[in-house]
Amino acid sequence: MSLFASGRGAYLEAMANRSVSEERSTASQTRTVAVPVSSVVDGEMTRAVHVIGILMASLVAGAILAGVWKASAGPQSGKAALVGGLFLTEVILAAILILLGSVVEGFGYGLSLGTRWPYTRNILVLMVQGDPEAAHRLVATLVGLIALALVVLAPSSATINGLALVIIAALFGIGTLHVLSGRMPAFVHGIHGLLAYGVFLSYLTGIAFPGIQFWSYLKFTVALHALFLAAFLGGMTTGQRGFGQPIGAFYRPQRLAHWTVAAHILVALTVVATLGWLMPTYPVAFYLAVTQVAVGFLLFHAVNLKPKNPGTIVAFHQSMALLITVAIVVSLP
Ligand code: HEM
Repeated sequence: MSLFASGRGAYLEAMANRSVSEERSTASQTRTVAVPVSSVVDGEMTRAVHVIGILMASLVAGAILAGVWKASAGPQSGKAALVGGLFLTEVILAAILILLGSVVEGFGYGLSLGTRWPYTRNILVLMVQGDPEAAHRLVATLVGLIALALVVLAPSSATINGLALVIIAALFGIGTLHVLSGRMPAFVHGIHGLLAYGVFLSYLTGIAFPGIQFWSYLKFTVALHALFLAAFLGGMTTGQRGFGQPIGAFYRPQRLAHWTVAAHILVALTVVATLGWLMPTYPVAFYLAVTQVAVGFLLFHAVNLKPKNPGTIVAFHQSMALLITVAIVVSLP
């Protein structure tokens, strides 16, 4: 553990200490200190974060409306219509949740609520004020509640696996806070990212291929294997660089953060090679993956230039990964 804590310097130590002092002050029944912590980044990012916040709120409203529309205008009625609508809302919310995670990361809000989980007393206020970490936790709650409702209404491979993945992803989500504060190893962050993609995929396949067993689909869809490994290593890259720290330019990997990003690049190239090898099955996914490699290098530079808040490019990199996933799923092999 100390290996991770020691490599990240004074900034990380300060953040870790601050979250400890947050917990202490809350325990002694003083008011929550989440607002001052999030305002540390507000000064620089307020406008961008607010615009993205409005966009994300619109997307969440869109996800709910899309579900209502599907339930009311689709060919099914009664419980089947409700389940269809919930599935659609859930898959869109799962994607939004992944994007919110990248906004949290891109604008340095990872510890804006400290390491306490899941809520602070004023989390709703913080969300309205534009704190993406507050929004991330509340949208995660909504995803969890819909996952539960789907299991009750329509127990199936997709819904049961979806709920199980949501629960495990949430547990690893607590872990990511401790990765950021330097108390847990980076692979916890990687597994959280991987599980988030698992949640998204389980509901997406539930819509695209109802009746097909989720794990069988995953096992036989080779194109997704390298992609998901890239998502895992992307999460590890984030976790390994440490909160607000650069990876650092390198020719030959010297630190663990270098080796992690080198592995991420290698697997990214494997994604491109796999999709190229499977041509012409996944043409859209292939071209998106080629573009994503270029975006990845831009992100690498952004992270080194502005390690505390590399900005929207993190969300762009994440949206591309989501689009590649969708492009693979909708291209029937
Ligand atoms: C098919 C290609 C790629 C895919 C699917 C992919 C996917 C991802 C994902 C999903 C994340 C976010 C992980 C998380 O926080 O949970 C990530 C992070 C990252 N990726 Fe990639 N990636 C690809 C290629 C690349 C390449 C070629 C580079 C070049 C260096 C790169 C650099 C990075 C960096 C630096 C991060 C961490 C950003 C941060 O710490 O905020 N990626 N990647």
